Amino acid sequence: MLIKASFRQPLSAPPTLRVGTTAVRGRMTDTAGECWQFYATGLTPARRYPLSLAAASGAALCEPWPLSTFPSPDAVADRLRVLFFTCAGGAESDSLVRGNLPTSVRNRLLRRGLSFQPDVAVANGDHVYWDLHAPRTPLASRDTTRLDSFNRSALVFGTRNETVLKLAAAPQIVPVYGTDFRSTPVFFLQDDHDYFDNDEGTDEIITFPPPWFQLQLARATQRMYYPEFLPDATRPSNLPWSSVDDRSDVSESFGTLRFGRLAEILLYDVRRMMTLAGPSAGFITPEVEQWLHARMKATEVRHVVNAPSNPPGWSAGKWGEWYPDILDDSGKLTTQKPKPYWQSGWLKQHDRLMQSMAAMDRRVPLVVSGDLHATGIGRMLRAGSLDFRARPITTVLSGPVGTSPAGFPSAVRGIAPTPPAHLDLQEDVKPIEQHGFMLADFLPDRIVVRLFKWDVKTQPPDVLDTLEPFHTVELGR
Ligand SMILES: [Fe+2]
Repeated sequence: MLIKASFRQPLSAPPTLRVGTTAVRGRMTDTAGECWQFYATGLTPARRYPLSLAAASGAALCEPWPLSTFPSPDAVADRLRVLFFTCAGGAESDSLVRGNLPTSVRNRLLRRGLSFQPDVAVANGDHVYWDLHAPRTPLASRDTTRLDSFNRSALVFGTRNETVLKLAAAPQIVPVYGTDFRSTPVFFLQDDHDYFDNDEGTDEIITFPPPWFQLQLARATQRMYYPEFLPDATRPSNLPWSSVDDRSDVSESFGTLRFGRLAEILLYDVRRMMTLAGPSAGFITPEVEQWLHARMKATEVRHVVNAPSNPPGWSAGKWGEWYPDILDDSGKLTTQKPKPYWQSGWLKQHDRLMQSMAAMDRRVPLVVSGDLHATGIGRMLRAGSLDFRARPITTVLSGPVGTSPAGFPSAVRGIAPTPPAHLDLQEDVKPIEQHGFMLADFLPDRIVVRLFKWDVKTQPPDVLDTLEPFHTVELGR
């Protein structure tokens, strides 16, 4: 178990977490004593533990609560329920019309997800929206307050940068989760905004891979506010940003959600390591790609699911997509003109990954992604010259939690998520630009996917408490 906690008042001495009879001393993750982590090892699999948290004085810091470990990798498990969502970040707003969804409404949406008692949640990217460069905004009208608020020549920790980072990031994460998820593990993947920029390629700046300072901001946010990925025997220990000196054996960007022999979800950040090397470019490095291919080829797990931080299946004409499509003058996607700074190697890597998914033996090829502010489901029948009609790849947009009504693709870019020319995509649910989440039940013979949506424009928040799925599909039957 890896647990992160932040406190209203700094603690001057390490608190202790008790996991059953094991005592885990807290490790400070900031320099002020407000943020602490607890890394408990040597626990028994598939066991519900009582947890309690005490200050150095012995005084309880909160009520005790339960948390269960997963079954061991070789154990037979017959059911796993996962809650997936994306884009939970954004500054607090008190309006349903302007700004991001009010935190209280995000809480309500997530609590409805939790009411179905998932075993685990996947928060797929964009936990913090505080873009520093915004190169698409004309220079004259650009607000450089955010950029200027950091000293990019200084360290993040132990300087004013740490204070600025906390003021920017904590209100977007801490109250959204609160203690609601303390008995439901959350796997947090990072995407572009977690590096404090939108993915943009302009003549002035290409925002990814992230500049060094913004990489440190992303690492610092993760260190303080959400857990890294725990080690897994089947994931190489030396993938990039794994086993980095100050983080022991955890991984920052590439994770495994393994639940016995029933399911394995491969989580990968496609921004941190992306390269701009033309036909040999990639969103992930060759060794990360090899790990994914190897896991899809391995046979010991029933279901293997890909969870990249941006979506196969659709395009909104943005720079940092798998696909070359760009908006033409009439606002439609086209591949007739080149997308500036887009790299053909990204698409080649996409095709290699899709080919591995479709080639999996006796499994449902499934990919669940983040980044895109929509909920939808499609079946990929073709990618370039690759024919998947014999076993289409199901691709799901899991649903955004915090998006501003002005932040949906149609509002920002004038186009709803659309299948790119490279694909034949059967859209069973055309992307819907509403808030939502997805539940996936992994069973020995099938995967049941349920999509939930809520329309901020027409529905009162009250209906969130009784929200039911609007689309259900059984995969593998
Ligand atoms: Fe994103």
